Amino acid sequence: MSISLSDIANLAKRRGFIFLSGEIYGGIAGFYDYGPIGFGIKRRILDDWWWFFVSSRDDVYGISPAIITSPKVWVASGHVDEFIDILVECARCKSRFKAETLLEEAGIKIQDFSMESVKNAIKNNNIKCPKCGGELSEPRCFNLMIEAHVGAVKDESSVVYLRPEIAQGMFTNFKLISAIVGARLPFGIASYGKVFRNEISPRGFIFRLREFEIAEIEYFIDPNEQNNCALFSEVENIEVKIWTKEEQKRELEPKERTIGEAFNEGIFSNMWHAYWAGKAVEWLISIGIKPEHLRLREHLETELAHYAKQTFDIEYYFPYLGWKEIVGIANRTDYDLRRHTNMSGEKLYLTKNGKEFYPYCIEPSFGIDRIFLAIITEAYTVRDGKIVLRLHPKVAPYDVAILPLLKKPKFIAKAKEINTMLKLERFATYIDFSGKIGKAYAKIDEIGIPFAITIDHKTFEDNTVTIRFRDTKNQIRIQVSELAKKLRELKYNYIMQ
Ligand code: GAP
Repeated sequence: MSISLSDIANLAKRRGFIFLSGEIYGGIAGFYDYGPIGFGIKRRILDDWWWFFVSSRDDVYGISPAIITSPKVWVASGHVDEFIDILVECARCKSRFKAETLLEEAGIKIQDFSMESVKNAIKNNNIKCPKCGGELSEPRCFNLMIEAHVGAVKDESSVVYLRPEIAQGMFTNFKLISAIVGARLPFGIASYGKVFRNEISPRGFIFRLREFEIAEIEYFIDPNEQNNCALFSEVENIEVKIWTKEEQKRELEPKERTIGEAFNEGIFSNMWHAYWAGKAVEWLISIGIKPEHLRLREHLETELAHYAKQTFDIEYYFPYLGWKEIVGIANRTDYDLRRHTNMSGEKLYLTKNGKEFYPYCIEPSFGIDRIFLAIITEAYTVRDGKIVLRLHPKVAPYDVAILPLLKKPKFIAKAKEINTMLKLERFATYIDFSGKIGKAYAKIDEIGIPFAITIDHKTFEDNTVTIRFRDTKNQIRIQVSELAKKLRELKYNYIMQ
């Protein structure tokens, strides 16, 4: 079955996953609101991310930096000068396009994204406005940061930027955090939250947004210990397709490799870079993404961000968009700590054996909305003409549905009793009193609830209920007193099929 983006968007709208923000006024492209089911799923993704990358580890510290900070931060980080896209405008209808997307959609591959090369590619391939066929302007640079003003006066002096990444909050607080928690290298600082980018052409439903959520780790290592990763055994056997820049240039296919093999081949800039690529792949698989739908693609020199020495994108195969980036794993070296030290005068370096040095930084950066889209895409199946969203229970909007077979007081009272019992055990429950069991099953299958408890006539004879499994429609009968234990087992031992 092939899934289209509109299948996903229709389900998202109909079942309250996601809506265009301010839709009653027509909305603005690139801004979406998450509804109860969508936010339920997104919160679960973020909670699991936090557990996997922060709480379950002893070497990563979580923080929450402000969205708006001193604009000097963005000058030092290079974003004021370098965080740009190349834009072209239609001379006739005035629509604006990101040059890279325009070329990609016209099937033109270029490896050099300099202004001159983009200009030549547009001219030589006679590319016209995709909306009206008009002539396109000369390409020009466009800074992606969204500006705001702080204070009573609105002029140049009050300009601030909505953060386009969270990373800088981790770099500017590096010294404070390492001093306060007494962290020793290697260690990481992590955070998640909203970021803002003035994308020229937001598209692909929630794929390219102007306000979106990212989750990032800045992991600091000793530059003299780059290939000394005591945790490497955690990832060395993880298998994934890897596409090096050399293979891309020579138009070769990506190769299936283990992270260990790829490191030994010298594909990664260092061992910690390989480690974090492996951990990111491991987490994505653990929340329900099939390994065959993931690949690591190395950035070509011309694609690298201004701060990166080497970057791998983790790409997911969206059946309706092709291979697209959902996570970036960059080696930022000491670029940021050095720049902030130079500009602020604050010493963001460490000392070892009397010698000063800047730690290097490996940065895994996860686009949460894109991961959400990937998870929904992966889970979307159709059974007997009805949608079944086979979400991993860890990222389902609710753990379990509670359904009384009949809409009668004693059935409703028992359902409420079980509901309270399971909530006390910290299960996110969904209760449906309609008594229309067939319809209720169809709804909960569509929003991805993995298990449903049904209260039927037998419940009043022996205090048992049935648990129905979303993926197989199989049912088991169980004592009410055993429910919490069984559900916990089912949730954590779930195997994706
Ligand atoms: N601090 C590094 C950084 O921000 P990035 O590759 O620019 O790196 C991180 O962004 C992730 O955010 C990407 O891997 C992608 O998944 C997601 N992302 C980037 N631009 C996006 C957009 N306009 N809409 C939704 N997600 C986006």
